Order: sequence, then structure tokens, then C-alpha cells
Amino acid sequence: MFEKVLEEVEQQCRKERVPMLGPDKAKLLAGCVEKAKPSLIVECGTAIGYSGLWILRVLKSLGSGRLITVEINPDSAQRARENFKNAGVADLVDSRIGDASEILKTIQEPVDFLFLDNNKDGYYACFKAIESQLTNPATLVADNVGRADQMAEYLEHVRSNYESETHWFERRRPPRRPGGDGEGNRGPRRRDGMEVSIYRR
Ligand SMILES: C[S@@+](CC[C@H](N)C(=O)[O-])C[C@H]1O[C@@H](n2cnc3c(N)ncnc32)[C@H](O)[C@@H]1O
Repeated sequence: MFEKVLEEVEQQCRKERVPMLGPDKAKLLAGCVEKAKPSLIVECGTAIGYSGLWILRVLKSLGSGRLITVEINPDSAQRARENFKNAGVADLVDSRIGDASEILKTIQEPVDFLFLDNNKDGYYACFKAIESQLTNPATLVADNVGRADQMAEYLEHVRSNYESETHWFERRRPPRRPGGDGEGNRGPRRRDGMEVSIYRR
């Protein structure tokens, strides 16, 4: 059932152009979760739950860990909740609605993994909002670091203070006209990346 829901969510994202991580980056994220074996992951930017499902699949296989995921759009959050329920992982996830930089201030328990995939100019504010709850060490993963100008403060901070590595992905934009090939093979190339950092006090 889980795999069927994940496949359907991926198809819905492609069809409706809902932003999602996509399988290549999701594999990197899942690998980071597997390595860190976190007790509590906080995700900023749920959308309809694609990346959340990848995270939850690892937590389920590890037999430990929970996810708090935050989304500003109530309709997207509602769809994500349905998807988590249908995939049989709703008990591992707490889906919250609101501005992540505000919601994160209300989390009062240790967080050992932070995944940033919300509004890009909000990454540093989200990091600061949760910093007092981060464990030592904690894993930080940030998507879309190809748009470095939009998250300059965050990138400058993690790259100059912690062990931090950029993982680059070649990707193509989807074709502009409907009827083009659904894999986006005719779109121009665009390089994007994920920043994986190990936070230490
Ligand atoms: C790139 S999408 C997330 C994709 C998702 N992580 C996935 O891979 O399936 C970004 C999401 O962040 C949400 N968002 C934008 N600003 C936000 C904010 N301030 N707080 C929380 N969510 C926000 C958007 O509504 C959108 O759904």
C-alpha cells in the first residue's frame, strides 16, 4: 500500500506541477535519515507529502523516530495528511499548518534532523527558530541551494561554521507546452543542489 501511495503522489505532483523533491534528491534525503537515525525530524514545506513519505518510509523501517512537518498552505497540508493516512504512516507524523519560522519556535523538544524545503528566503529564520532545540550534533538538509542568492545568509552560516557539503543534481525543466514529453527531456538544463550540514555547538 505504501509504495502505491508514494507512486500516486509522485504522479499527482508531476501532473499538477506541485513542487516536490523528486526521486534523486529524495534518495539522498532518505540516506541522510538512515545514517542519522534521528528521534525527531522537522520538515519545513510539506506540500502534499512526497518528501515526507520518503522520510517516513525510513523511520518505519528503523522502527523509531517521528516527523513534524510544517506547511503554510492548508489545502496542501490536508492532502498530505490524507496521503500519510493512506500510506499507513500517520502515527509517525505530526502535520502542522502555518509559517514554519513561527511554528518552529513552539517546538519544545530535542530535534536531531532539520529538512528545509519551504520559502527559500526563510531558511535562516527557520534555522534560528529551532536552533535552541537542536541536538549536538544534528543533521541539517536544505534543498534548492542552486538558488544561493535567496538563502545567502543560511548558506554562509552553515558553510562557515559547520562541516557542510553541497550535492549537485542536473535536472531539466518540464517542457513549456502540454503534449511535450512528460519527463521534461526537451527542457533546458538547470543545476540544483542540496546542502547537507552537521550542526555542532
Ligand atoms: C518545494 S515545496 C515542498 C516540497 C516537499 N518538501 C516535497 O518534496 O514533497 C515548498 C512548500 O513550502 C510551502 N511554504 C512556503 N512558505 C512557507 C512557510 N513560510 N512556512 C511553511 N511552508 C511554506 C509551500 O506552500 C510549498 O508547499
